[in-house]
Amino acid sequence: MTATTSLPALRSVAEEAHAAPQPVEIQPIEIRTRSLSLSYGRKPALLDVSLDVPRHQITALIGPSGCGKSSFLSSLNRLSDLLPNCRVAGEIRIGKTDVLDPATDVVALRRRVGMIFQKPNPFPLSIRRNLELPLKEHGVRQRSELDAIVERTLTEVGLWPEVQDRLDRSALTLSGGQQQRLCLARALALEPEVILLDEPCSALDPISSGVVEDLIASLRGRYTVVIVTHNLAQARRIADRVAFFWLRDGAGRLIEEGPVDAVFDRPRDELTAAYVRGSRG
Ligand SMILES: Nc1ncnc2c1ncn2[C@@H]1O[C@H](COP(=O)(O)OP(=O)(O)OP(=O)(O)O)[C@@H](O)[C@H]1O
Ligand SMILES: [Mg+2]
Repeated sequence: MTATTSLPALRSVAEEAHAAPQPVEIQPIEIRTRSLSLSYGRKPALLDVSLDVPRHQITALIGPSGCGKSSFLSSLNRLSDLLPNCRVAGEIRIGKTDVLDPATDVVALRRRVGMIFQKPNPFPLSIRRNLELPLKEHGVRQRSELDAIVERTLTEVGLWPEVQDRLDRSALTLSGGQQQRLCLARALALEPEVILLDEPCSALDPISSGVVEDLIASLRGRYTVVIVTHNLAQARRIADRVAFFWLRDGAGRLIEEGPVDAVFDRPRDELTAAYVRGSRG
């Protein structure tokens, strides 16, 4: 076959492809903040943050210490209500819920929006009871249902083979990485829509950190994940989108956000460029 005879065929294939563009899958927005500001007493920690977080993707929050990343996370499930002198203004919507509306049921909200912290914080109870306690608080009482959820969530975080024969031992006998996976299982047991993670790997050894990171990556497509990380390589590996925060005039601000490759490889803002290059922050 010569080049001349194959060209029209090639062109018609190209034209056909052009005429029928591949459908681009656009994820609906799960979390929407508008002009969100947060302060502790008179000191502003976050100013004017407007961010859209798409459903079932992983969004990483990056930026230097003190720029308000943890404060931002804590506003999303109203954990900020529990912080002394903390005031939040602006708008947060998660699905159809107006998060900052005083009438919003905070217990129901926190069931939908689970949170994992830097330091694993299992209850000083057995592995089984760590999972059963929140379930019972939310009305799950049947033994068979409790057993099924315990097995399902421990399997989901890869812990079941490691702990199935010691479910009644204290959760504190687990390693740090296992404890963090148990905390994730505890959050998953309540079937949340959103999972917030605040530096979930930074207190773990490199091997456990890798296991937990892979686990977080596996949540994509099923949960909306927002993760704070100081580990830029980790953000690049697991995130779909990245939001870069920076401290300016004493308050944290959202400088830039977008798809992970765009923020790391083609940042629009000089500050982002310097931060991801490692020359600032
Ligand atoms: N409970 C609190 N009471 C008073 N001020 C607080 C409280 N928590 C945070 N702050 C202040 O708010 C600002 C933002 O803190 P935040 O913890 O949100 O930053 P961060 O980006 O998570 O930092 P890091 O990367 O070190 O965890 C900081 O100036 C901090 O000192
Ligand atoms: Mg923090």
